[in-house]
Amino acid sequence: MFVSLTWLTALLAGIFSAHVTQRLCFPYFWKDLFYLTKVIRYGIRLEIYKMTSRVVTVIDRFVQQAERVPNKPFLIFEGISYSYRDIDERSNKVARVFEEQGTLKKGDTVALLMSNDPDFICVWFGLSKLGCSVAFLNTNIKSRSLLHCFNCCNAKILVVGADLLETLDDILPSLQKDNISVWALKKDCSYPGVHSLLDKMENTLSQPIPAQRRAATSLKTPTLYIFTSGTTGLPKAAVITHLQSLKAAAGFWAYGGTEDDVIYTPLPLYHSAASLIGIGGTIEMGATLVLKKKFSASQFWNDCRKYNVTIFQYIGELCRYLCNQPEAKNEKDHKIHMGVGNGLRQDVWREFHRRFGEIRMCELYGSTEGNLCFMNHVGKIGAVGRSNFFYKLLFKYDLVRYDMARDEPVRTEQGFCVRVKKGETGLLLSRVNIMSPFFGYAGSKQLTEKKLLRDVFVKGDAYFNTGDLMAEDQDGFICFRDRVGDTFRWKGENVATTEVTEILGLVDFIQEANVYGVEILGSEGRAGMAAVTVRPEYSFDGKKLFEHVCRELPTYARPLFIRLQECMEMTSTFKQQKFRLVESGFNPATITDPIFFLDYTTKCYIPLTDSIYQSILNGQQKL
Ligand SMILES: *[C@@H]1O[C@H](CO)[C@@H](O)[C@H](O)[C@H]1NC(C)=O
Ligand SMILES: *[C@@H]1O[C@H](CO)[C@@H](O)[C@H](O)[C@H]1NC(C)=O
Repeated sequence: MFVSLTWLTALLAGIFSAHVTQRLCFPYFWKDLFYLTKVIRYGIRLEIYKMTSRVVTVIDRFVQQAERVPNKPFLIFEGISYSYRDIDERSNKVARVFEEQGTLKKGDTVALLMSNDPDFICVWFGLSKLGCSVAFLNTNIKSRSLLHCFNCCNAKILVVGADLLETLDDILPSLQKDNISVWALKKDCSYPGVHSLLDKMENTLSQPIPAQRRAATSLKTPTLYIFTSGTTGLPKAAVITHLQSLKAAAGFWAYGGTEDDVIYTPLPLYHSAASLIGIGGTIEMGATLVLKKKFSASQFWNDCRKYNVTIFQYIGELCRYLCNQPEAKNEKDHKIHMGVGNGLRQDVWREFHRRFGEIRMCELYGSTEGNLCFMNHVGKIGAVGRSNFFYKLLFKYDLVRYDMARDEPVRTEQGFCVRVKKGETGLLLSRVNIMSPFFGYAGSKQLTEKKLLRDVFVKGDAYFNTGDLMAEDQDGFICFRDRVGDTFRWKGENVATTEVTEILGLVDFIQEANVYGVEILGSEGRAGMAAVTVRPEYSFDGKKLFEHVCRELPTYARPLFIRLQECMEMTSTFKQQKFRLVESGFNPATITDPIFFLDYTTKCYIPLTDSIYQSILNGQQKL
């Protein structure tokens, strides 16, 4: 009880301390208190698990809910409703099929490659009931990376959705050579050596597997592996322990969600937002989740009206896509009171409120593998989180000065990092210790070590490097500024891509912009380039854009090249795809999209011809 008592004492001491009460100025006091009480209550629950070595995991919680409210809809997918009992019994069948095979032991890992579907959840839960860890594979990654994923998490079995079996064609022989048994969600399967799962489930009882089989004694036991899609290199398998999955499952509840809520999730289940926060959070409250196969901006509001959705999940640019839809008369007519997610830009946030009404947008900051979490429970526009005296007792984080040119934190002569002042931008680091452990990546000590920063303030300490540049204001609001990689240098200056993106977004004909830097042979740094899409019924106006860019941006930040695209390429997590654009550069001979060049002679963005391209490369064209 030691740690939790410390928290409580600290809380009480804090409340009665005049100094603190004064600093927690009025508008946020009750909201802070409401939120913190919840955080602390949940923290105590986790402490009790730790002390008694009896963890009530997310799957235990699901089984409890299935006993408590068996007939309540748990999941709605493509118009069909599945009750808590339905999913519980179907996942028992999955567990029984593998149990009868006799190959899986408690603690083994099974890889799952599936699109959003109720059976994704049944297979996941079924395997959890056998005490196995499940590795969620990203459905977009291709053969070679996929093989790499197996090696990372040491999976012996692969379960694959019927629609994705074909994508395995070229790696099936390698998998079979490694003795990985492949199961397809089909009734019969003509692929040699691939087992079918659905027919076997039909012939199996739905009796529960004894709870002993899944019992967890430690919060540190891995339960899932989630692959984080880096922009470069192979995907990394973040180890998700019961501790992280339980923390994420408290998200909606901490924001005030209840069992009467209906949650809408259009995000892929293999990603932590949908699985840990969405599914886990729904189970925690005993609520209902509407799962969408794929996000569709045009169907979004109709879906929400149809199912009486009250909370939706978003990520990255999703809200921008909603704002880009043509205005409709009934767009304020819905029951949504809350959005939970990450990556909402200020301009979109305001526009979203204007269009769709006063929906409380709850930004939640925390990477899949990170050990820190911020929540903007106050709903202040532009902030990803809110900190205060108590919060700092629970989470040890710091913002340190960052050297953009050298792409590393500033160190003093003694070799230590320097905290930034209030309001200044710094690199967010989170202390790694027993209270906030970092479980790293499966199968790679090296990658794990790379995310850690050591000897930060004293010799021997360790911090998780989030790679995010943030600032904290006087009131304790934490704002996201930039991703370390989202900055490039040109003419000796740092260009923040997010800033340029926002400026370009102000031009009436630009629907969306994606800014990045491209290398030009013989030039230092990277030249600005923007991929843009044009609004329907507008056309690209090079003169207007030239004037706007010269008015709003310093010389070094102006995009030298504009690439017109029909539609913006996204990553599977609704972030703009940058890596491939950077790779493809600006050569008009190899790119089919129209490319324009910032031309100071004609004061206009003009089509980039082959001869201009050549004159840039041989240095005749002044940049
Ligand atoms: C696969 O299984 C066979 C038979 O059980 C065994 O002989 C072989 O060594 C295994 N191969 C690998 C790579 O584990
Ligand atoms: C949504 O709410 C309305 C009014 O409260 C109700 O009549 C309707 O049946 C609900 N729809 C669903 C799918 O629950």
